[in-house]
Amino acid sequence: MLFDMEKPEGFDPYEVLTKLVVPRPIAWVSSLSAEGITNLAPFSFYNAVCDEPPVVLISISRREDGRRKDTARNILETKEFVINFVSEELLELVEESSEDFPPEVSEFEALHVERASSIKVKVPRVAKAKAWLECVLLKHEELFDYDLIFGRVVFAGAESLDYRVLKPLGRLSGRFCKIIEISQG
Ligand SMILES: Cc1cc2nc3c(=O)[nH]c(=O)nc-3n(C[C@H](O)[C@H](O)[C@H](O)COP(=O)(O)O)c2cc1C
Repeated sequence: MLFDMEKPEGFDPYEVLTKLVVPRPIAWVSSLSAEGITNLAPFSFYNAVCDEPPVVLISISRREDGRRKDTARNILETKEFVINFVSEELLELVEESSEDFPPEVSEFEALHVERASSIKVKVPRVAKAKAWLECVLLKHEELFDYDLIFGRVVFAGAESLDYRVLKPLGRLSGRFCKIIEISQG
């Protein structure tokens, strides 16, 4: 199969990209608006990009009408966010939180997600997440119709660093995937 990604005809470049860049980690991002409304949404165009200092990057597309998503707007307003670790048990909630809730509605409230205080940032975290990264906005870039959010990780919490305990879920095409086999050594 051959795909001219500069002149797509008869295929969707999004589909090719998201089927070939796999599996992707999922950032379940909590954030706070300037008015103090909490927000929670998943993003899989996400990765760690530096470790000294630790920096993560999240790419957030604009909505069809050009509006920023609540997560991007909140992070630009209040400069902080938390990445909640996505374990297998959280799949359903993560998916529900990706629905387009209006900005004045908190996904924490609407989906009854229990929250817990973070250590270094004001943004609450998901109490049931087995790990979390507290981030402050380091840099924001606009790229085409995307908000690129570079976050400096200022604090991390984890029940364990063992993937057998964390049971991470990844994004595989439009689906979720579990880790079922690990190479030795
Ligand atoms: C697993 C998963 C991964 C997603 N990854 C992204 C992503 O990388 N970038 C993006 O803009 N939207 C992504 N979305 C869609 C957003 O979660 C969705 O647009 C959400 O409504 C944004 O919420 P907000 O307006 O509260 O920020 C993803 C959805 C799911 C279920």
